[in-house]
Amino acid sequence: MNHHSTLSAQEANQHPAGSRFACADLFGVPIVEQDDIVLTPEPVAQAIVERFKPSGRILDPCKGDGAFLKFMAGADWCEAREGRNFYDWTTPVDWIVSNPPYSIFSDFLRHSFTVADNIVYLIPVNKAFNSYQMMLDVAEFGGIETIFTIGYGRSPLLGFPIGFCCGAVHYKKGYTGGTKIEFYSPNAKALSSERSGD
Ligand SMILES: C[S@@+](CC[C@H](N)C(=O)[O-])C[C@H]1O[C@@H](n2cnc3c(N)ncnc32)[C@H](O)[C@@H]1O
Repeated sequence: MNHHSTLSAQEANQHPAGSRFACADLFGVPIVEQDDIVLTPEPVAQAIVERFKPSGRILDPCKGDGAFLKFMAGADWCEAREGRNFYDWTTPVDWIVSNPPYSIFSDFLRHSFTVADNIVYLIPVNKAFNSYQMMLDVAEFGGIETIFTIGYGRSPLLGFPIGFCCGAVHYKKGYTGGTKIEFYSPNAKALSSERSGD
């Protein structure tokens, strides 16, 4: 299947990787949950790219409006709403950097493990530790090298419709060391004293 083509409903529903996303409406357009369209502010995308400095072959698997791509010249991309389903991407890449769809994060991460050596996802950080199965899957892939903590979702910095602490989580293939926690904001302590919602 060509990852650049719009999926037919039958093809999408047969897809083994994406159990929840992998469906399409009658016109063959991939269905994306509205909650999954949470766009990253460009300064945050820029800070994440500058922090991790991805190199080699780079993929944004769900580019949205292209916030990350703007700072990753020459990177490949997918975006369900433009007919490029990430679950159809099978070419190995050195880095994946993006803000993934949260409602299918576990599936999305598992597919990422099959194609990338380094994965940086901006997510509500608690999602990284969602389930025992996820911990097993991460351990099998390698480990989490860094959590680059950005702020709480509803902060002026992010403007997301969620309150959880959000950060860029770096999954690294074959990594067995500890996890470093870093903060984006030079003013991190002041931010944490604000009310952060849920
Ligand atoms: C949280 S938004 C983030 C968009 C962009 N990465 C950003 O940071 O602004 C997640 C994006 O994933 C897209 N998406 C959902 N499922 C997808 C899939 N299977 N393949 C490619 N894109 C997908 C959605 O359409 C949405 O644009």
